Amino acid sequence: MTAVATPSQGVLTPHLEIVGGRPLAGSIQVSGAKNSALVLMATALLCDETLTLENVPQLTDIGGMGEVLSAVGVSVEDRRNGTLVLDGSGVSHAALPYELVNGLRASFFCIGPLLGRLGIAKVPMPGGCKIGARPIVEHVRGLKALGAAISIEHGVVSAAVPGTSRRLTGAHITLDCPSVGATETLLMAAVLARGTTVLENAAQEPEVTDLANLLIAMGARIQGAGTAVITIEGVERLGGTRYEVIPDRIEAGTFLLAAAITRSCLHVSPVVPEHLSAVLTKLQDCGCTIERDGRGLTLRADEIHAVDLRTQPFPGFPTDLQAPFMTLLATAKGTSVVSETIYENRMQHVAELQRLGASIRTQGSTAFVEGVPRLSGAPVTGSDLRASAAMVLAGLAAEGTTQVQGLQHLDRGYDDIEGKLRGVGASITRFNP
Ligand code: EPU
Repeated sequence: MTAVATPSQGVLTPHLEIVGGRPLAGSIQVSGAKNSALVLMATALLCDETLTLENVPQLTDIGGMGEVLSAVGVSVEDRRNGTLVLDGSGVSHAALPYELVNGLRASFFCIGPLLGRLGIAKVPMPGGCKIGARPIVEHVRGLKALGAAISIEHGVVSAAVPGTSRRLTGAHITLDCPSVGATETLLMAAVLARGTTVLENAAQEPEVTDLANLLIAMGARIQGAGTAVITIEGVERLGGTRYEVIPDRIEAGTFLLAAAITRSCLHVSPVVPEHLSAVLTKLQDCGCTIERDGRGLTLRADEIHAVDLRTQPFPGFPTDLQAPFMTLLATAKGTSVVSETIYENRMQHVAELQRLGASIRTQGSTAFVEGVPRLSGAPVTGSDLRASAAMVLAGLAAEGTTQVQGLQHLDRGYDDIEGKLRGVGASITRFNP
């Protein structure tokens, strides 16, 4: 279906215009997982052979990570069909340039593999972002336990392994909180360490398991990924391989919510249903019917009822779908209570949803969402990646035209969201004034 280009009503920044209230129908394709692909790319630093990644989404963050890796000597070839060919044979320097890492948190993934391979790394602090402070205490504590000497000066984390061998040493590490990034950093650091590392209270997110599976394909010895205890037996070297990134569970969840909020029927694939169990349960609790087939899920929605939800580490309800799911609940029958427990500042979408007519009251990181019969279009801005996705969902449901600004966030994490939604009947057009 062709998008209907409507007047942009004076919005002067790049934005999406969505004419809401249209039912969606058909099949929508899920790209490879952003949060897997970003960390998988960093493993190219661990070996001097070719790593071929398939099903890599086309995103600005992926391009940024490619530039960061190139800066330390990885050759990065983007074949533009979802295939990235990375060659770490030329990795020579261990200092990441600030101007490339600024704003790209994923660049901090380089510290673990650089330490593992070269015994030295200098990486600018990733810094906080709009959703919260996002400390790296657990990453640093774990790397120190593996034998690295670490100092943080002028916003740069300098890490080095003392001694002539420059090799990290396995250790028993218990994380204070199951940080995804810390688990991934320590996995990448420990695979080339001398001896065995045990990570307790490890993150269990599917992206961690994806990373472990890639490392195993490269020759690492890892057991327990996907559980709270991961055991890594260090090896002397890793080799190249070809590996396919898992489907993006958050993008898949966003499309299921697109079907639900427009009270439509959509087939979403590929999806690994186990990666979305908590989300599927909540969608069913609020009245959606979900059928599985070989590769994906079909969601049908008619009447949507209120449900309460609380974000938790995997396998709990993902924080990255809190804003999108709240948008659905803003149109549900009854009052829902949504509690954000992962990030201290992830309620900024509430004010924007209110501009569209939603009835939501917040108390700290808890939102009381009283469903309204309809939202109505207005100009809104997504303050971060998932808040932007929430605005797109709201626009699909709202009566009239919604202009969604903040596309620099959306483009970091959704590969051609407007093209995909247009393909299933949405009226959504990008304007670059
Ligand atoms: N935390 C600490 N200390 C630490 C590390 C983390 O207290 O040393 C806390 C954080 O403050 C936060 C919580 O632990 O409250 C979770 O942080 P985590 O380290 O698990 O998150 P992350 O690795 O920085 C990844 C994703 C995020 C996603 C979270 C949680 C990537 C590149 N990012 O971040 O994705 O929200 O896990 O699932 O993998 C997104 O895609 O929009 C996004 C923000």
